[in-house]
Amino acid sequence: MKDLIDRLAREHDLADDQLLALITLEDPEAERYLAQKAVEAREAIYGRDVYIRGLIEFTNYCKNDCYYCGIRRSNTCAQRYRLTQKEILECCREGWALGFRTFVLQGGEDPYFDRARITDLVRAIKAQHPECAVTLSVGECDRETYAEWKAAGADRYLLRHETADTTLYRHLHPENQTLDNRLRCLADLKDLGYQVGCGFMVGSPGQNPGMMVTDLRYIQQLRPHMVGIGPFIPHKDTPFRDEPAGTAAMTLRLLGIIRLMMPDVLLPATTALSTVRGDGRLLGMGYGANVVMPNLSPQSVRKKYALYDNKAATGEEAAESVARLRESMESIGFRVVIDRGDWKGEQ
Ligand code: 5AD
Repeated sequence: MKDLIDRLAREHDLADDQLLALITLEDPEAERYLAQKAVEAREAIYGRDVYIRGLIEFTNYCKNDCYYCGIRRSNTCAQRYRLTQKEILECCREGWALGFRTFVLQGGEDPYFDRARITDLVRAIKAQHPECAVTLSVGECDRETYAEWKAAGADRYLLRHETADTTLYRHLHPENQTLDNRLRCLADLKDLGYQVGCGFMVGSPGQNPGMMVTDLRYIQQLRPHMVGIGPFIPHKDTPFRDEPAGTAAMTLRLLGIIRLMMPDVLLPATTALSTVRGDGRLLGMGYGANVVMPNLSPQSVRKKYALYDNKAATGEEAAESVARLRESMESIGFRVVIDRGDWKGEQ
């Protein structure tokens, strides 16, 4: 196994069956080696810096009905909310004071926040904080809309592809949502000059390791600037309520593999990983992650933005605890920096 890991670190690629072997690896010694090589790869490009992004979950209305997601349209138990532009700007102001230089505006696909309202919002944030980066994460739109937001000042866009396997995509989403459109969006975003993040859930219902290889191949081909992965976690008011959660171990292995495949990629240790394992975030850093996205939403709405059950929302997941986050990162030899945290690769 060590040979394979060395080869992946050196060539940033392996054959499908070799990737499969690494994904399903259950050998503590080899896993430690993967973690070590991933940390080295990350360090060569990003040093020991950890980038923080302030996550503002500004609406949990959604017109989509993804079977896995707690804010799906059909979930009548969800308590819906929308933040006003004023409230969002206030979150940014607080975030700025705490040292955040990237704001991630994430929401469901909420028709109220149409093209013009998002354009306004991006302009307002950029006017208030010209030195910050604005990341949008509001789902699938047409190319012209993405272009308008880019012109308004948006720097980055997060849109997980969820799975690159057509059959699994169908199993996770209703008919009207297609993998083709999802991938079209990502291609448009990249082409328009956004720093783009794709990603997928680990252990989603019906997923097998071969499908994860398909995801890795898609990611290699897209060459995104960021890859967000986290374990699937069931939500009690969704059709997948009884499905098992993805594991931290599998997520960590994939983080390590992705880091070795794409040494320059921005790789977050996600909230979902912290939710399945309390120390998930620190472990994620140990497998090559270099980004964390603390929650900057107003306290009153944090629980309502529930994509899955028991979302970690307190302690170091909360932006106001960034001082504690800083300490715990320092205790494992990393340094939280006050920086936009742009991608450091070469196009
Ligand atoms: N478990 C884990 N992640 C989820 N997401 C949505 N629902 C869940 C869930 N039940 C992820 C999706 C989405 C991102 C915002 O959150 O990958 O793109």
